[in-house]
Amino acid sequence: MIVVTGATGGLGGATVEHLLERVPAGQIGVSVRDVAKAQHFADRGVRVRQGSYENPAALRDSFAGAEQVLLVSGNDPAADMVGLHRDAIEAAVAAGARRILYTSQQGAVPGNPYPPSDIHIATEAILARSGVAWTALRNGAYGPLDQVLGPWQRTGVIAQPADGPVPYTDRADIAEATAVILAGDRAFDGPVTLTAPTAVTFDDFADIASDLTGRTIERIVLDDERWVAERITTGVPEQLARLMLTWYQAARARYFAEADPLLAELLGREPRSAADRLAAHLAT
Ligand SMILES: NC(=O)c1ccc[n+]([C@@H]2O[C@H](COP(=O)([O-])OP(=O)(O)OC[C@H]3O[C@@H](n4cnc5c(N)ncnc54)[C@H](OP(=O)(O)O)[C@@H]3O)[C@@H](O)[C@H]2O)c1
Repeated sequence: MIVVTGATGGLGGATVEHLLERVPAGQIGVSVRDVAKAQHFADRGVRVRQGSYENPAALRDSFAGAEQVLLVSGNDPAADMVGLHRDAIEAAVAAGARRILYTSQQGAVPGNPYPPSDIHIATEAILARSGVAWTALRNGAYGPLDQVLGPWQRTGVIAQPADGPVPYTDRADIAEATAVILAGDRAFDGPVTLTAPTAVTFDDFADIASDLTGRTIERIVLDDERWVAERITTGVPEQLARLMLTWYQAARARYFAEADPLLAELLGREPRSAADRLAAHLAT
């Protein structure tokens, strides 16, 4: 049995969809906070059990019989995410899991100024001490492109802080590759990096956006403090603006710069590129 957490979220849910194409539904379980949201999986024969990282007893029950557990990282900035991940890892070990896969992040290495990296580094260290086999899926940046590029469609400019090369990746591709790993025979021990094949900068995005729209989209580099001040005037809390700024700082320090061929290898095709993602975004 393979048990997936976060299956009512984007990455976990898409991973279960791809698993259903590869293994019998009776060998798939989901551990979710709200079982009503996973009824569509129950209807197809997937075992649905309640589990949240705050409740180790329920987690153990939802992990029972699992040979592999996919632990999807939580996303509550106010919570002790490392402590919750530790509890979830201990529950998986207690339930007898033989391998734990964890959704980490590209560039989760010491020195990375983007704070979620610290959560992933600490969680990977807990996995390394867990006594069971583990895989950290260091996933490339797949958040909404608008979030990193700003309102360029309205303004005609990508006016953001200095950036660096990033292999912006499609979450759907990562979900498919995760299912390939979970369902396959090949063991991946420790961290692996899953990214689109090419890293691009905002200069590249300006060219791509110009080609796609037929308009001239310019790239303007904003001073960090001016950018933070502008975010605040649009209603973004300063703390959040400063957190977002660390992402650009990490990109510019090249923590996300390396594209990795493994995703293409697992998919057996080219992953969607940054240009593909931008085109898809424009089409919606
Ligand atoms: N690589 C990247 O670019 C990137 C971008 C964004 C996020 N991430 C990370 O990757 C994770 C998965 O991404 P996503 O796009 O699938 O995010 P998502 O759609 O927000 O899904 C997160 C899932 O985690 C579950 N979850 C959160 N806290 C939990 C807890 N305490 N106990 C049990 N389940 C919990 C949520 O449960 P509910 O469905 O009940 O809410 C949800 O299903 C995120 O949580 C975040 O850590 C990575």
